[in-house]
Amino acid sequence: MKKLLIKTYGCQMNVYDSARMAELLAPIGYGPTEVAEDADMVILNTCHIREKASEKVYSELGRLKKLKDERQMTIAVAGCTAQAEGAEIIARAPQVDIVVGPQSYHRLPEMIAKIARRGGHALETDFPALEKFDALPKEIATEGVTAFLTVQEGCDKFCTFCVVPYTRGSEYSRPILAIEDEARRMVARGVREITLLGQNVNAFNGEGPDGKPWSLARLCDRLSRVEGLARIRYTTSHPRDMSDDLIAAHGDLEALMPYLHLPVQSGSNKILDAMNRQHTGDHYRDLVRRIRHARPDLALSSDFIVGFPGETDRDFEATLQLVRDVTFASAFSFKYSPRPGTPAAAARRQIPEEVKDARLQTLNMLLLEQQDGFKQSLAGRTLDVLFEKPGRHASQAIGRSPYLQSVHVDDAAHLIGEIRSIRVDGVFPNSLKGSFVPARKKVLAH
Ligand code: SAH
Ligand code: SF4
Ligand code: F3S
Repeated sequence: MKKLLIKTYGCQMNVYDSARMAELLAPIGYGPTEVAEDADMVILNTCHIREKASEKVYSELGRLKKLKDERQMTIAVAGCTAQAEGAEIIARAPQVDIVVGPQSYHRLPEMIAKIARRGGHALETDFPALEKFDALPKEIATEGVTAFLTVQEGCDKFCTFCVVPYTRGSEYSRPILAIEDEARRMVARGVREITLLGQNVNAFNGEGPDGKPWSLARLCDRLSRVEGLARIRYTTSHPRDMSDDLIAAHGDLEALMPYLHLPVQSGSNKILDAMNRQHTGDHYRDLVRRIRHARPDLALSSDFIVGFPGETDRDFEATLQLVRDVTFASAFSFKYSPRPGTPAAAARRQIPEEVKDARLQTLNMLLLEQQDGFKQSLAGRTLDVLFEKPGRHASQAIGRSPYLQSVHVDDAAHLIGEIRSIRVDGVFPNSLKGSFVPARKKVLAH
């Protein structure tokens, strides 16, 4: 058995792709390893979203070159940097054997065979998303209680800062029945919670069983009827595609978790416009109000960019004001990173690094305060916890709250894969501690 190491960078879509790559290569004799020194093949599944992310690849390739100088090893670069840079990667790092984009990795087995036969390099950066999903193995090797399932790929939004439309191609939604089938296979392996993935997951419009396009809300409804599937999440959604039926689904579907990642990026209408987000701060506030009306216990997370070209102190203040108005349970904030080939990178009024640093710090302080406030508000509350894995102490298990926090509970080791009502007794920086509430026991139907 040959050994395969896959290192995954970037977003959940890469995590999903890495799992599928491992499944693709298992039939041709590759088993997993965690250690580069043992690996016969290393795949770097890369991210291109910010400069730091894509530069990481080259430092990793430098380390791998040393190993490859000493022994036989195949090095592949997959993911978004592979798509964006293509042959440039091989020019800059000739130790790389294979470069394969996110929509063509189903061709890995033939690419490996080709370089084994003929030597040299192999490069595939086409965009056949449809063909990819059809070509992936039906055998799911997912382990664990939670899983990602990609339902939509690519992006047609072209936010002016973002590389994703170029690295992932245009929007494509998988057919409903193919998704349902994959979900059922995951559930048969013990999965109880599925996160539906897409760059613009709420722009989903996959072909339904009736031959017509179905919305994400209809997909969620369909999946909520899959026996044994207790929880559904989706990410990442765009404010523009938060349709009325999806908002209503948050109120109607018990399986749909009350936690939504809805990136807003900025609170300034001028900056939102320059970003081509096609909504205003007030549109976002109104949207949040309507979603919370449908699902009052809903918590929000978001993404922010500080220091977008032309962002003034007033623009930044508008972002802080939006954060104060909305209140987020968690958030990711980034300094704007100019990406080659995107319109904003060519904008004249780039913001100095030290201004970006200061704004990031100010924003993070506010967001952390809100995050902490949200966690503290859970103390004493009863939450449904899905048990995922054994804890550090005997009999303890670690589960997930509806808001994705880890919850440690004693005497729960026998409950992996099940949901119980748990009272939150302790709030810690990275987890919660809880105990059983016997009166409200809830057993998952099998
Ligand atoms: N499809 C998602 C975002 C995917 S990228 C959406 O539309 O919201 C994840 C996050 O990375 C973005 O939300 C944004 O906040 C950040 N990001 C993207 N490009 C960036 C750049 N050039 N510089 C800094 N942050 C960036
Ligand atoms: Fe990037 Fe915008 Fe598309 Fe999100 S919606 S992936 S930020 S272009
Ligand atoms: Fe990164 Fe590509 Fe995801 S650029 S964030 S890995 S879609």
